[in-house]
Order: sequence, then structure tokens, then C-alpha cells
Amino acid sequence: MKVTISKLQEAKKYGKKFSVVSCYDYTSAILSAAAGVDVLLAGDSASQFMLGFNNTTDVSLEYMIAITAGLRKASSELLLVADMPYNGCCNGKDETLKNAQRFITECGADIVKIEMVEVNLDTIKAMVDAGIPVMPHIGIRPQTGKYKAEGTTAEVGAELIRFAEELYNAGVQMLLVEGTAREVAKIISEQLPIPVISCGSGPDCDGQVLVLPDILGLRDGQIPKFAKRFGNIGSAMVDAISSYSNQVKQGVFPDDEHSYHMKSGEYEKLEKMIK
Ligand code: KIV
Repeated sequence: MKVTISKLQEAKKYGKKFSVVSCYDYTSAILSAAAGVDVLLAGDSASQFMLGFNNTTDVSLEYMIAITAGLRKASSELLLVADMPYNGCCNGKDETLKNAQRFITECGADIVKIEMVEVNLDTIKAMVDAGIPVMPHIGIRPQTGKYKAEGTTAEVGAELIRFAEELYNAGVQMLLVEGTAREVAKIISEQLPIPVISCGSGPDCDGQVLVLPDILGLRDGQIPKFAKRFGNIGSAMVDAISSYSNQVKQGVFPDDEHSYHMKSGEYEKLEKMIK
């Protein structure tokens, strides 16, 4: 059954939580759907995990359009969130609106997430007026390059709560709160009737999102405090790839079982032809 924004909104009334995975390709989206995830986000963290940039701002709009369309092909049932990259919203309201519309019409996205960095309330209102479902992203916004927890003081917490309310009054259909003190995210989620997604903002929001590389344990080194690993697939991948590489070097792979053969009698014919 298709996951829709209105179904998530209805489920909120009964305290039903939903899971969101940020991933970047068709195969991962198929696996996420098989795992029972509710929402797919084609996150602009692809800039780091897929393209190797050390920020989320270098990824192009066209790349994000391509991966978002790939996720839609993996599942028509899951709610699909497009992520507006910096390059799609840094040239003013009209350009942002045009690009947001592309995610809906070209990729089949259900809603467009947009970090509140380059865009202001006016642009959000214009998106709502144009009939584009929009999910503002507040709190830590990776497009700023700053990763310090937000809302840890009463003043900043109150500002975030006020801002969330303003966005709701502007007509947004969902909200994402990243890296924000649990207490503040809880108030935001309780005050707004729309589905609120937490990314490292505690357990009290309606939905939770993590990036797939962190869920799977694909990266080592510095990872955010909130990024719990649910697997150790990175080392399983290294094991599998190293078995392959060793077997190639030892001449063990490929064997006859993994080879094609000519039809009966064709080899003898070929021998005569090339003599
Ligand atoms: O780009 C992304 O994956 C995100 C989530 C982490 C919220 O914005």
C-alpha cells in the first residue's frame, strides 16, 4: 500500500512511528523496501558518500535528479523524498521553484526536502502556493558546513520552535529536524500536527532517518554521535572483495562453472576456419 503524507499525518495521531532511509541507488532502495522501511530519502549526502566531496554542497542538481528517479524505480509504494541540493536552490526563488517541480514531475518524488540555508520563508510559501509538497530541514544543516548540535540553550531552542511554527503556518507538509536537542525536537513534534522527522534529534519525533552507510557500518572514522551502526557490512564487503581478488590472482576464479561454452561441434568448425 502506498505510503502517503496524509497517511503519515493520520498515523501521527495514534503515535505510530515511521522509518526513513537516506540512500542513493536503485539496489539499496530495493533492499530498504524489502526491509520494511516506510520512506526513502535521496539525500544530498550522496555528495560525500557517492562522489567523495568533503561537503554536501558540490553535488549537482542533475546528479540528484538522476538518483532520485532511480529510487522511484525501486519502489512505487514508499514515500519518496527528494533532497534539494545547494546547487538547485542558490540562484533565487524562481530557479528553486523550477528545480523543485522537476523532482516531482521528472523523478516522481512525493515531497521535496530543502535545507533552510539559501531559501527563506518567502520561497517556502511560493513552493506551497505552487502545489509542491515541501519538507523544510532545520537544526544542523550540513549545507552550512557546521555540525554543532542545535537548540542546546533556551534562547536557540525557543527560536527553533518559533521557526518550526512559522514554517507550519506557511503550509509545509512535513519537517526534518537534524542534530537538535531532544527536548526541543520533542516540543516541535508535539506542537505540530504534521509528521516531524528526527535526524539525530532524539526519539520523540514521528519518524527517524539515518544515512544507509551508517546503518550498514560502511564507514570508519568520525561519525556523528547519533549515527548508530546496525551492521558491519563494510568489513563483510572487504572480506568478499578480497576473496574475489585473491582467487583471480591465484587463477582459481573464474572456473569452468562460471564460463560460457560454444555449441556442440562449433569449436571443431572454428579450428578449421582459423587455420
Ligand atoms: O542528505 C541526507 O542524507 C540528509 C539526511 C541525513 C537528513 O539530509
